[in-house]
Formats: sequence, C-alpha cells, structure tokens
Amino acid sequence: MSEAKTIYLKDYKAPEFTVKTCDLVFELFEEYTQVTNLMQIVKMDKSAKDLVLDSVELELVEIHLNDVKLEEERYVVEKESLRVLDVEDEFKLIIINKIYPHRNSELEGLYKSGNIFCTQNEPEGFRRITPYIDRPDVMAVFKTTLVASREKYPVLLSNGNTESNFKLDDGRHGVTWSDPYPKPSYLFALVAGDLGVVKDKYITASGKYVRLNIYTDKGNESKCKHAMKSLKEAMQWDEEKYGREYDLSLYNIVAVDSFNMGAMENKGLNIFNSAYVLADEDTATDANFMGIQSVIAHEYFHNWTGNRITCRDWFQLTLKEGLTVFRDQCFSADLNSKEVQRIEDVKALRERQFVEDNSPMAHPIQPDSYMAINNFYTATVYEKGAEVIRMLHTLLGEQKYRKAMDLYFDTFDAQAVRTDDFLWAMSKAGEMNLEQFKRWYHQSGTPKLDVDEKFEDGTYTLTLIQKIPHAVDGSEQKPHFFPLKIGLLDESGKEILEKTLLISKEKEEFLFKTSFKPVLSINRDFSAPIIIDQKETHYGFLMKHDTNSFAKYEAAQLFGIQIIESLMQGNDINDEYVRAYGHILESDLDISYKALLLELPSISALMQRQNVVDFELIYDAIEKLQKHLASLYKEKLLEIYSKFHNPLCVDLDANSIGSRSIKNRCLKLLSSLKSNEMAVMANEQYSNSLTMTDKVAALDILENISSEYSAVAFKHFHDKYRQNTLVMNKYFSLLAASHREGTLERVIALQKDAAYNELVPNLVRSLVGTFTRNYKYFHAKDGSGYKFVADKIIDIDKINPQMASSLAGAFKIYKKLNVQNKKMMKVELERVVSTHSLSKNVYEIVSKIIK
Ligand code: ARG
Ligand code: ZN
Repeated sequence: MSEAKTIYLKDYKAPEFTVKTCDLVFELFEEYTQVTNLMQIVKMDKSAKDLVLDSVELELVEIHLNDVKLEEERYVVEKESLRVLDVEDEFKLIIINKIYPHRNSELEGLYKSGNIFCTQNEPEGFRRITPYIDRPDVMAVFKTTLVASREKYPVLLSNGNTESNFKLDDGRHGVTWSDPYPKPSYLFALVAGDLGVVKDKYITASGKYVRLNIYTDKGNESKCKHAMKSLKEAMQWDEEKYGREYDLSLYNIVAVDSFNMGAMENKGLNIFNSAYVLADEDTATDANFMGIQSVIAHEYFHNWTGNRITCRDWFQLTLKEGLTVFRDQCFSADLNSKEVQRIEDVKALRERQFVEDNSPMAHPIQPDSYMAINNFYTATVYEKGAEVIRMLHTLLGEQKYRKAMDLYFDTFDAQAVRTDDFLWAMSKAGEMNLEQFKRWYHQSGTPKLDVDEKFEDGTYTLTLIQKIPHAVDGSEQKPHFFPLKIGLLDESGKEILEKTLLISKEKEEFLFKTSFKPVLSINRDFSAPIIIDQKETHYGFLMKHDTNSFAKYEAAQLFGIQIIESLMQGNDINDEYVRAYGHILESDLDISYKALLLELPSISALMQRQNVVDFELIYDAIEKLQKHLASLYKEKLLEIYSKFHNPLCVDLDANSIGSRSIKNRCLKLLSSLKSNEMAVMANEQYSNSLTMTDKVAALDILENISSEYSAVAFKHFHDKYRQNTLVMNKYFSLLAASHREGTLERVIALQKDAAYNELVPNLVRSLVGTFTRNYKYFHAKDGSGYKFVADKIIDIDKINPQMASSLAGAFKIYKKLNVQNKKMMKVELERVVSTHSLSKNVYEIVSKIIK
C-alpha cells in the first residue's frame, strides 16, 4: 500500500530561494548522461537557512558552492530532495549528477523515445534531471549546452536560440542554446537525435522573421505538411484575435513516438506525440488531421497563455489549460465549421468531463488538494476549464473580453500568477462583479437546472431552479452565476426572441409578454456547462425548427434518449421521433452538421442518466432503434451513401470531409441490419477508398457484423501497415472496440503482435484503453474484463505510473454499477490497491474510487 501524502493549496508558501540563472551542460552517452548544473541562487526569505532542492532518483557526483567543492557534512541527500546546509543570501552552486535516460520508462524527465533523447518536464520532471527548485513560481534564465556523438546525434536542440556550435576531436560535438525569457523548469526541453527536418518561415505582423522547423524520424518529412500549415495558421490567428506575436526568431517542433500525453509547449521547442504531427492521406483520418490542427495551435497558444504568463503553483493549472483550450476551440471554429466545432466540443465534454464530475474523482477546475499532480491533467481542468472561460467571454462580450485579455497580458507578463489574477483582469476590464462566478473554480459536480414553464393571461413565466450537487466529501455547494442563452419560438417555428439570461440565484423567474404560449429553446450554444431538466419538451418541433444549430442538435439527442429510454422500459418506438429523424435525412443542411444530427445518442449519454447502470439494457435498446431506422429509411440512406461516396477523393476541404462523414454515418446505421448487402458495401469501400477515414469506417463495420470479409480485410490492413505504428494504433483500437464474440481473447493475443509494445503509451491506449470503453466486454458479467484491465494496471504501473493511472480511471463508474458488476469490480479494485509498491498515481485514483 502506498503512503502517498496529500498536498494542499492552503499550504502554499512562496519559495524561500529563487534561481536567477541556470547554465546546464549535458554530456549524452549511450549508458548515461552527465549533467552539470550551474545556478545563481538568491535567498528570498532571509530567515531561511538551508536550501532544499527537489531531486528524484539522481546519482550525485559532486557539489561546488561558490567554486569550493562541498564536504559531505555540508549537505544531506533526502528521499526526494537535496538539502544544502546553511547557505548565504546569494551564491553560486554547481551540481554534477548522472542519470540513465535509456532506462527511463516513466517518460518523465530525460528519456529515450526510440533513438531520440527527449524530455518531458511538466509538471515535475525536471527534478529527475538535476536538483532544482522545481516549481513554476521559480523562473530563471536558462543556457544549455548539449554534447553528444556527432554521428548518432547530429541534431542537438534546446530552448531559445543557438549561441554557438563546436566540434570535439573524439567524434563528438556540441551546441549551446540560450533562452532570453526567464522560465520555470517545467518549460525546459532538450532533444538529441538523427532527425529529418521540414523548414518553413513566418513573418509576424510587425515584420519579424521567424524560422519554423518540424523535426521527425527520417523518412517522415512528407507527413509534416499539415502540421506546418496549422502552425502558420495558429500564428496568424493569435495576431488577429489576441494581438499576440511570437517572441523568438525560431520555433522548433519535434515529433516523438513515446509520449505520455498529446504534446508539450516547452519554450521555443515543443515536443509532440507523433500522432499530433504526422499525417498524410494514406495513413491519417480526417479526425487525425483536425486533431493535429488543434494540438499544434494549442501548444503555440501556450506561448502567451502559459509561458509568458505562467502558473504560480499546479493548483492553478486551469489558468493556462482551460484558457488555452478555449483559445484552440475558437481557432478550430474559425478555420472550420463553427456549428460542428461547438457540437464536437460539447460532445467531448459530456462523454469525459460529465462522467468524471459525477464520480468519486470529481474535483473543481481548481482543485484544492492532490496526491499526484499528474492525475490532474483532467477533462475537468482542461475542458470544463475552457467552458468557464467561454462563459466569461459570453458574459463580457467579445470587445470587453479582448480588453480584459489585453489587461491580463499587460499586467502579468513574465510572472507566475493565479486564477484570481486572471479573474481580476476579467472583472476590471469587463466591468463586472465576478465574486459569485468564482465558485466555478472551487466547486465540483455538474449543476442541474430545473425548468418550469407557465402561460397565463398573456404572460409566459419561466421558472429556473439550480440544483447544485454536493461535493465528493458530502459538503453542500452554492448556486452558480452563469449566462443562459434562450430562444422563444412561435407555433409556426418562427423565432420571436433570443436573449441571454443571467442566472445567479437558486431560483429565478423570468416573465415574457406574449399573446400565445411559445416553445422554449434553452441553453443555446451550450452557454453554460450544466444539465437541463425540462418538464415539458418539444424535441420533435425543435429538431425541425430551432434556428440555433446547437439547440437543434440537442433536441435530436434528447429526443433520441427519450425514445431509447422508453424502449428500455419495453415500450414501442415513438412515431414522431422516427418522422423527425426522416425529416433531417431529407433536409439540405450542411452535410457535416447533418451527419451530427443523424448520430444516435451514445451509450455513455444514456449511462449517465441511470442511477444503476445496466449496459445490456442500453445497447439492446440502441440496437433496436438503429435497426428500425435503418430498415425504414434504407432507400434514403443508400441514396445518400451513393451520392457522397467518392472513393478516389482525398481532399481535405469541408465538403470532402463532410461527404465522408455523412455517408459513413449512413453506412454505419445501415450496417445494423447485419445483412450481406451491407457487408459487401463495406468491403468494397475498404478495397476501393483511398482515405484512411473510409478504410477505418469500413473495417469497423466489417468487424462488427462478423462477415466473412472481416478476417481478410484485417489481414490485408495488417500486412500493409504493420511497420507504421500510427496506423497500427487504429488496427488495435478497431479490434479492441469490437462487439463480436471473443473480443477479450483477441485483445490478450494482440499483445503478442510484433507491432505492439507496452512501453509505448499510444499502443497501450489503443489496445487496453480502447478496451476499457468497450462496454460489452469490459463490463462482462463474469468480471473477465475487469480482471484483465486490473492485471494491466498492475504491470504497467511498474513501467509507467502515469499510463497506469489513466487506465485506472476506467473504474470510476464503480459506485453506479449494478450489484453483480459491482461485486466483480470490487474484487479487482481491492487487488490493485493492495499491490506492493503501487505508485501514488494509481493509489490516488483507486483509493478514491473504493472509498
Ligand atoms: N501542458 C501540456 C499541454 O496541455 C500537457 C503536459 C502534461 N504532461 C503531463 N505529464 N501531465 O499541452
Ligand atoms: Zn495545454
């Protein structure tokens, strides 16, 4: 059992010392790396005596204080720190230590991804490189020299600009980098490797020339075009929308295969999971291309929201992440389709964050305690955090929001600040009291809004009651302040009013004078991240008439949910829904948007509404509805399919992407008929289509209707792409998501595939991670799915605790399970939590789940 201790925000203390400059020399060898760290350190709190540096698993060689080698009695090596006793007010410290990057499987600090040396230091990786005051409110000017074999590591990169290059006689060479901007250690990065590069340039609005480089394994250069294009689009967007220019003359991006998360915004040297850089028509889906555009932009936007202005401590993480996600969402909306983007963002929020918010792992976007900070890079901190910024944007309006952002940049540039500082700028420039709004930062759980309507004597009364859930510890929480955008429609479907209501009290009443009872369209654009509970509903009507693209989508979803729930209770399929669905099929809406309207509610959406979850009941009902719609609308679905199926088109414009999206939606629905006809169509699509989007859609269908074609197609796919890990991720995901008999057995066997490697997080996510979202087999009544995943968590925890704890999140549904599943899961949770030398990462998640 772990003895992990809890860290509290209330215990925050300003650093006793700070680092002015940090000059690092890395001597990279195959067996070890030697780090020489020269720091100018200043005492900030004059009462402090000892300097305590964070230091994890470092092999100390020697220490020099003001050029004198320190005797051993002058310092103490503690478990995760190095204490230098009795130091002066200002001094120079040199520490030499060794590390072993090739043995680093946690992928934190300095490690090797294939043959590339790279780093991941956010949040606390730097202390695994050299002893340091490893906290974001200590900002230093860094200079870095890398020395390595010239043949094996011709490319040597770090933050900032190149200062000098040198060659050594023994076949080694070196490069010195210097970064003029003071920064916290989590933004430090280095890369060494034999890399291919794609070069480009960007001229900023004020005319500064910026060199842009994307580095990747040799041979992948042609797959960097989309990433480069996205980077330039992001640079321009930030100039236009936020008035922010890039501040160095060089911007480097490096793609590596082994990476715990999506990417990292290190100053001037972003390091990326290769899944968010590499793409071409043959290997990447449309969703992959969109993902690259948004993650490239996200990391670029961090240069101002994260790097220039950073976080005082890790409790403030949403300060940079919520804000930067909001920025990347707006960027994607501007460059693609606004309506589709908003729906996709809300979908992702509800599938991931709402589930988290209704689990024992629920936390405010600004948590007040943690055991492992790595566990808090969550959908709540990121995606709900972005919704909170979006509400501020809605409350202030575009102009005042921009004024407030300008004030934020002007006031806090080069500082490490708090969410309260951000809210101060919003409140001041926005001329709005945000005291109550702050609750969004400190309360957890998804608020519900009860909606009651009344019409009497020419007055329409809207009564809204906030139902705020209790916090995880059972304590009561207070009503929120938020914008609620509504519309009122007359009986012909004409909009008579659109308004943003300000909700602050637990109970609010709004009166409208009308001569008839209007139809309400509520929480338009998803103006607040809440759950609407409406007594009276007009979903069919709104599916037809709502002019707000989000609300129309929402009506389709909620109507679908209503029908599926009624099927679950043994009722028949409601005709009005079926007609409304048909109406959308016939409509000439934008095709990408239409494809979303035609999507049936997810298992996750239905599960969230059950107090006791029974998956079998849910997917039987969904299947029934799919079959009904597919057989009734077969002709229309086939017609849409053939109209938009264009196997040779590989374009990425909105129309081509939309065409693939809608015809694959139709084919998927038709495949619920499980007929040979559909198998033949999917098989032809697999063979003839040039895009990965179409191939993956076809394989998914073939796998799930267990046709004779499936095995052949999968074998062909495997033979063709087995050398390409990014494509093999899709292969493993498709098979792990399968509803066909024997999925778990195949998943177990796939771990032996030559392309599979438990050390590579992307592969683990594809195979095991996808399996945890396969409701049918993960939640198998005999507990076999739980046992498999628990075994994996225990194994992988020894390799990579972050990866293991993210798998453990799959168990967070525990308390809501039916008796039998719950019993099975409990056994596994107890087995995991009592594992010897379990990481604090996994311990924190699992102990919270079974508490
Ligand atoms: N700041 C990065 C981003 O959002 C995420 C890095 C998180 N890394 C981690 N090991 N938790 O772009
Ligand atoms: Zn980020």
